[in-house]
Amino acid sequence: MKKVEAIIRGNDFDRVKNALKQIGVVPLTAYPVQGRGVQGGVPPYDLLPKMKIEIVVKDEDVEKVIGVIIRNARSGTPGDGKIFVIPVEDAIRIRTGEKGNEALY
Ligand SMILES: Nc1ncnc2c1ncn2[C@@H]1O[C@H](COP(=O)(O)OP(=O)(O)OP(=O)(O)O)[C@@H](O)[C@H]1O
Ligand SMILES: [Mg+2]
Repeated sequence: MKKVEAIIRGNDFDRVKNALKQIGVVPLTAYPVQGRGVQGGVPPYDLLPKMKIEIVVKDEDVEKVIGVIIRNARSGTPGDGKIFVIPVEDAIRIRTGEKGNEALY
C-alpha cells in the first residue's frame, strides 16, 4: 500500500475528486493547506492556499491514481502542485477489522 499525497490548486479539487471516483477510488482525506514551491510564493504572499488530498491506495493502483490527478490538475503553469508517494505499513477498517488492501476501498 502507498499513500498518495497530492497538493493541488483549490480550483481543481472538484474535478480531481470526481475523476478519482470514476475510477473507483472513492475514499480520501482532503484539507486546505498553505504552502510554497520553488518560486517561494507570489509577492507579497509567502505562502499560497492549496488543497491537499491524501489517499491510501493499493500498490497496483498507484500509477493510475497519479495519472488521474495529473490529467485533472495540470495547467502547465507554475503552482500546479506536487504529488508524493509514501509507503504504508497497514490499514485497518475499524468496523470490521479487515486489514491491508481489503480495508481500503
Ligand atoms: N518539496 C516540497 N515539500 C513539501 N511541500 C511541497 C514541496 N514542493 C511543493 N510543495 C507544496 O506543493 C505546493 C505546490 O507546489 P508547486 O506546484 O508550486 O511546486 P514547484 O516545485 O514550485 O513546481 P512549479 O515550478 O510547477 O510551480 C506548494 O505550495 C507546497 O504546499
Ligand atoms: Mg511553484
